[in-house]
Amino acid sequence: MPSLEEELFPSTPGKFKDRNRHFHRCFASTSTMFLWALFLIALTASYICFQSFMDSGNRYFTATWGGHHWEKNVINSAQIRRSHGGMSVLVTGAAGFVGSHVSLALKKRGDGVVGIDNFNNYYDPSLKKARKNLLNQNSIFIVDGDINDSKLLVKLFDIARFTHVMHLAAQAGVRYAMENPGSYIHSNIAGLVTLLEVCKNSNPQPAIVWASSSSVYGLNEKVPFSESDRTDQPASLYAATKKAGEEITHTYNHIYGLSITGLRFFTVYGPWGRPDMAYFSFTRNILQGKPITVYRGKNRVDLARDFTYIDDVVKGCIGSLDTSGKSTGSGGKKRGPAPYRIFNLGNTSPVTVPMMVAMLEKHLKVKAKKNFVVMPGNGDVPFTHANISSARKEFGYKPTTDLQTGLKKFVKWYLSYYGYDQGKL
Ligand SMILES: *[C@@H]1O[C@H](CO)[C@@H](O)[C@H](O)[C@H]1NC(C)=O
Ligand SMILES: *[C@@H]1O[C@H](CO)[C@@H](O)[C@H](O)[C@H]1NC(C)=O
Repeated sequence: MPSLEEELFPSTPGKFKDRNRHFHRCFASTSTMFLWALFLIALTASYICFQSFMDSGNRYFTATWGGHHWEKNVINSAQIRRSHGGMSVLVTGAAGFVGSHVSLALKKRGDGVVGIDNFNNYYDPSLKKARKNLLNQNSIFIVDGDINDSKLLVKLFDIARFTHVMHLAAQAGVRYAMENPGSYIHSNIAGLVTLLEVCKNSNPQPAIVWASSSSVYGLNEKVPFSESDRTDQPASLYAATKKAGEEITHTYNHIYGLSITGLRFFTVYGPWGRPDMAYFSFTRNILQGKPITVYRGKNRVDLARDFTYIDDVVKGCIGSLDTSGKSTGSGGKKRGPAPYRIFNLGNTSPVTVPMMVAMLEKHLKVKAKKNFVVMPGNGDVPFTHANISSARKEFGYKPTTDLQTGLKKFVKWYLSYYGYDQGKL
């Protein structure tokens, strides 16, 4: 490959000599040289002017939030449309998998919902856009913005008096953290703190329900996983940032009186799911006749997951919002103790990955080409299994969809969304 210099200055000797002579002629006298210098200075100055003009222009043209029309959309979307106990919820990550489902469920029962999402390209943004369209059709407005943008968050709290925040925006995935660790810090740490800062300063303070993860149990071997089990052995940076989030939210609860509920999700799956998850990418590969990689633990032990169907998780999220209790602070000052809760939201019946694949084969009516590979020690844990008695006790959480049924619904959605023609994928 030619280097940049090589492209700019072809190394043909004859040409180079010509150019040299040419330069020589131009700078022959000092007065011409002075004129040239003047010309260069003028050129540089006008370039700098043009650049700064473009910068301010860019900021204006790419600003995706602000303005009268935008504010009206936010106010409308945040409006509570039921008579008793309605809430107005800011849903972060609203174009995401869980975020879009929770937003629709809240809207359906008359709560006010405003979404925010940065539509990053961790996975196919067109799926996020499609979820956004679905929400728009249901009168839910989604702000195109980042949760680490404190000006935007302050503005949103200024124009809509959110009673609750459903914080689901996050950088997900365990292996991607080795590729892009900064992204986990940006969303799961910096973004979280920015959001909490704005929440603690707002008046009244909202109650916050947010997505932690079953991955905080890390190398924990005691089953089922109970909320009181140790969570100080994360196996991935993703898990570590979620664990950090639990500690950070505790601080804001303790100092500022924010009502906090952390939800440890266990492998949530279903229609409109995340393409980076195994059940989703397996479905795509099986339909395309491509092989799938099935990880195994040491001694050929199958991995198992406590797969939890999206509708069950949505019920858990809404149950958490309904029972969250109030934040007690205002204007950055705590007035009394506020609730701090953590719940597992799982299904309590782990299924091995090969069994999950067999279910997909059955629903897709296609046999999978399986490559069994020993799991690399780079983030995945061998199994997860939730003890959900705490969420059951607090708000009657009771998952009702088994994996067989849930995957059937997922496959039905997948085929209707992507079509039987898999060529375009
Ligand atoms: C998040 O926002 C803060 C404050 O605006 C900024 O200083 C910081 O660089 C941002 N952090 C990341 C990781 O983007
Ligand atoms: C499940 O968690 C509860 C506390 O929420 C605890 O009392 C119970 O012993 C746990 N069950 C098991 C089987 O670990």
